[in-house]
Amino acid sequence: MKIRPRRNRSSDSLRRLVREHKLSVEDLILPLFLVDGISIRSEISSMPGIFRFSPELAVEECRAAAALGIPAVALFPALDEKLKDRTATQSYNSDGFYQKTISRLKKEVPGLAVITDVAMDPYSSDGHDGLVSSDGRILNDETLPILAKMAVSQAQAGADIVAPSDMMDGRVGFIRDELDRAGFTDTGILAYSAKYASNYYGPFRDALGSAPKKGDKKTYQMDPGNVTEALHEVRLDIEEGADIVMVKPGLPYLDVVRAVAEISSVPVAVYNVSGEYAMLRAASQNGWLTYKPAVLEALTAFKRAGADMILTYHAKEAAEWLAAK
Ligand code: PBG
Repeated sequence: MKIRPRRNRSSDSLRRLVREHKLSVEDLILPLFLVDGISIRSEISSMPGIFRFSPELAVEECRAAAALGIPAVALFPALDEKLKDRTATQSYNSDGFYQKTISRLKKEVPGLAVITDVAMDPYSSDGHDGLVSSDGRILNDETLPILAKMAVSQAQAGADIVAPSDMMDGRVGFIRDELDRAGFTDTGILAYSAKYASNYYGPFRDALGSAPKKGDKKTYQMDPGNVTEALHEVRLDIEEGADIVMVKPGLPYLDVVRAVAEISSVPVAVYNVSGEYAMLRAASQNGWLTYKPAVLEALTAFKRAGADMILTYHAKEAAEWLAAK
């Protein structure tokens, strides 16, 4: 045999030399759950090791993330049920704790990029990402002005990038226009372009108490059987002005990440979602998997599939492991 592929695998140094895709701390975005109050650090039972932080502890968490070299955080607010209503009024309250936390973070940890969430569900008494009609339909065009007000209030607070996660049609263009009209021409848009109606979001909905009160999200989030449609969504979002496009969830949709990476003219993000985190945690707590190498393998798979950046609850520990190598 003249050709022996195993030669290049014969030592750690050679394996490092020929490795095609490498995970770096620069690829990581840390999602963080925020809750109003002080000294709150409450663990999410379906996501061991992940917490809801009150603003001052969130600042500390962000300082630690920035010190590890993580370039960005993505913030999600958990609201008291009493503050929720049909039209998600709190979502664009410039005095709301979410907006105040954004400003505080930009002041106290200026080197860290802040990505904010644009969707009604954390603020909606219906638990949906759009406005719900009396007969239970999710209204698209009526939702757009609410999303735009939310995005503008987050930009005002200092968000570097707003991230519409709602899957309403036309929202990227609508938000871009309203941001520009308000003078926020430099605020970026990370579009959740191909977001699937997935069963892997359960622990996230536990964290925010944001599960739909009625029905499901299948009339706006994508059907798991589709991939061509993901390309349609991505092309539309890029035409409407998205600066970054995203595929979500991650591990069950690596083929979609690959397909999107091949056609996208803007960077591609992937969201390694709450259910994916919970699976690795649970399996390793049971002794069925070894946590660290399993996590690093999964994160490397996103890079191999073509993702430029990864939203992952493993971000801090992965950054620590990468620094220790
Ligand atoms: C909703 C939203 C969801 C996630 C991020 N934004 C869940 C949903 O659509 O119900 C899920 C993230 C995760 O599971 O980690 N706007």
